[in-house]
This record gives sequence, structure tokens and C-alpha cells, in this order.
Amino acid sequence: MAKVLIIRAHPASSKKSNSMDMADKFKEVYKQEHPNDEVIEYNLSSGNAYPLNDTAISIYNKSLAKESLNITEKEFREGRQKYVDEFVSADKYVFANPMYNLFIPAEMKTYFDIVMQIPDTFHYTKDGKPEGLLKNKKALHIQTDGGIYHGEPDMSFLDLGDQYIRSVLGIMGVSDVESIFAEGMDYAPDKADAIMEKAMSRIEECAKNF
Ligand SMILES: Cc1cc2nc3c(=O)[nH]c(=O)nc-3n(C[C@H](O)[C@H](O)[C@H](O)COP(=O)(O)O)c2cc1C
Repeated sequence: MAKVLIIRAHPASSKKSNSMDMADKFKEVYKQEHPNDEVIEYNLSSGNAYPLNDTAISIYNKSLAKESLNITEKEFREGRQKYVDEFVSADKYVFANPMYNLFIPAEMKTYFDIVMQIPDTFHYTKDGKPEGLLKNKKALHIQTDGGIYHGEPDMSFLDLGDQYIRSVLGIMGVSDVESIFAEGMDYAPDKADAIMEKAMSRIEECAKNF
């Protein structure tokens, strides 16, 4: 039985969301095809109490200096650690988000700030190189973009979110990463239905074999 984490970042609203529709479709088909797997979901936009604030940085510095933590820091560390443990114990990851200002939503960046943690998900070798500690995992990145970045001409260098997700997952040892984009619906609303239809069929195919 595999454990799948679906990690969404989209502000709750009554507005229809294409990226969340894609995540919903993935979940529906995945569950049909893998009925015995465990699927756990977060929407990070509904709140994350563990940003890189003064408490987090104090924990970081005290850990380096091998100093003991105060009560507030201990509680904060335990709360963060639950996310880290969940991430380590999962076999498959699905990240779903709209592109915001060429990047992932800030809440998803905060999530990576939590799970990018030594010595749980990566460490540094003696010669100072990062080495991933997550083995045999795979990931899917679902993203909607108002413009077109992954087409002709190739503008993918501006899609910093997808590059970032691939980079941080790579550092943690996850190199099997697929991306599915639905792009250009703001740029060409008349083509929105066709764009979504194509993206949904890729989602369906991916969910069957993920
Ligand atoms: C604050 C904000 C910033 C955005 N920045 C970009 C951007 O940099 N590039 C882009 O192509 N689209 C951008 N968009 C458009 C969204 O990525 C696009 O509308 C997407 O399809 C929304 O997905 P959703 O239906 O899941 O909300 C932005 C939208 C918002 C609200």
C-alpha cells in the first residue's frame, strides 16, 4: 500500500480553480485505480503556523551551536516535525498550484522551508555537497499559468516555480518528477475549454499509472 500526499496551495474562494480541478481529477482517478493506497491532502493556503520566523531561525542557530531549546521553540519544532515525518513517510507527492508572479504561492514555499530539513530529507557530504535521503519516491507537479511558458518559443526559464520544485525535490533525492501544465487560459480565454480538456486527459493518464 502506497501513501500519496496531495499538497495544494490555492486560496479558498468560491471562484472556480482550474489547478484545483486538476488536483481533484487526479485524486478521483488515482483512488479508482489504486483503491488500497492511502491519500492524504493539505491545502497549505488554509494556514501554516510554521514559517521561517524568529523562532524557526533561533531553533536553527541553537541546533548548530548544540544549545538547548526553550518551551516555545520545542513546541514549534514538534509541530514542524509532524510535516517532515509525513513527508518522509509518503511514497508519492502531488503538488498543485496556480503560478503567482512566476513562482509557486508563498505558502508552498513555506512548506518546502519545513520539509527541506537536515537530517531527515537531505544532508551534506564531507565535501560539502547536498545529498538526498528520500529514496524510491516520485512526484507530480500540477500547475496552471495565465500565459504560456512551455511552448514555442520556449519560455520555461521564466517558470521559476516548476524549476524550484524540481531543484528542491532533487536535493532531497526525488528525481522522478513529472509536470502537467494548463497554460494560456488568461491569454486566450476562447481556447480555455480545449486547454483544460487536454490537461485533464494528461492528468487522467498520469493518475492511472502514477
Ligand atoms: C496574484 C497573481 C499572480 C499571477 N501571476 C502570474 C504570472 O506570473 N504568470 C502567469 O502566467 N499567470 C499569472 N497569474 C495567473 C494565474 O496563474 C492563472 O490565472 C491560473 O490559471 C490560475 O489558476 P486557478 O484557476 O487554479 O486559480 C497570476 C494570478 C494571480 C492571481
